[in-house]
Amino acid sequence: MGVVRVQEIANFSKETIPEEFIRTTYEQPALTTVQGTVLEVPVIDLSDPDEEKVVRAIVDASSNWGMFQVVNHGIPRETVGKLKEVGKAFFELPPHEKEAYAKSPGFQSIEGYGTKLQREVEGKKAWVDHLFHKIWPPSEINYQFWPKNPPSYRKNNEEYAKHMHGVVNKLFRCLSLGLGLEGNEMKEAMGGDSMVYLLKINYYPQCPRPDLALGVPAHTDMSAITILVPNDVQGLQACKDDHWYDVEYIPNALIVHIGDQVEIVSNGKYKSVLHRAKVNKEKTRISWPVFVEPPSDLEVGPHPKLVNEANPPKFESKKYSQYCFCKLNKTPK
Ligand code: OGA
Ligand code: NI
Repeated sequence: MGVVRVQEIANFSKETIPEEFIRTTYEQPALTTVQGTVLEVPVIDLSDPDEEKVVRAIVDASSNWGMFQVVNHGIPRETVGKLKEVGKAFFELPPHEKEAYAKSPGFQSIEGYGTKLQREVEGKKAWVDHLFHKIWPPSEINYQFWPKNPPSYRKNNEEYAKHMHGVVNKLFRCLSLGLGLEGNEMKEAMGGDSMVYLLKINYYPQCPRPDLALGVPAHTDMSAITILVPNDVQGLQACKDDHWYDVEYIPNALIVHIGDQVEIVSNGKYKSVLHRAKVNKEKTRISWPVFVEPPSDLEVGPHPKLVNEANPPKFESKKYSQYCFCKLNKTPK
């Protein structure tokens, strides 16, 4: 109760934005983005029958960028279209209908409708509202966080979750083979079929000063991998060698982020990507990342086959829940 949504702030911010959204010069996108297409996040055709070539491309992208886009990935265009349609419709409902799904302040659940309450370390706020809920496996789903309106919300989200398995399996297989492991070993190290798919909808309202604000500040995802679809408003940026690059919007592509858990299991061969999101002056940007995560009580560490005396583990093994707790609370252990 009483939380002011960014969507409301955007309604009365016509020329300026509240001070708490103005980033320092180290973060302002207008001052810190590489202009022109010098380098680009790789685009990989997942339907290429030459699997070795696909593996090489994924290894390359995951080691150098920690991010890539995939095309011909097998999720039907209509399935993605319907996921986006109902997510957008939810955020366009009147405030009181959305508030019915709000996270309750005292309750430490990630699921639900919300706006980040605390300012970040630098004292700034992000220009975004969100909705989080799990979409897989069925035993982990809490339907109380799934909007009942629009009525096709549930069917469209279930359909998307079902179609994700093919891409997830293919990506883990390639990541695994790329490390010299058996095709199934990477996925098994993440919990196999018990992996959890956590969907987030980011709703970034139009913003009069996109040069000064950020939708999401720089971070790496805690997940194993993240598979994101955006609407057609460009805004995602990836950091490579200390420089920020725009990630091109490609219709029908999925954007894959290497998350912290894949970096850990690969013992640092694959890099979890530092990324952030800009906002837009005229248009609302919306994105749908799915965080593909190990089950919370699974211990994740460098794969035993990848460590030896010459290659000692670079990361501690931890239960996924503990990893998240430490990262969110910024404690080292
Ligand atoms: C995130 C994220 C980027 C985007 O929610 O973790 O990085 O493009 N979003 O919305
Ligand atoms: Ni992210």
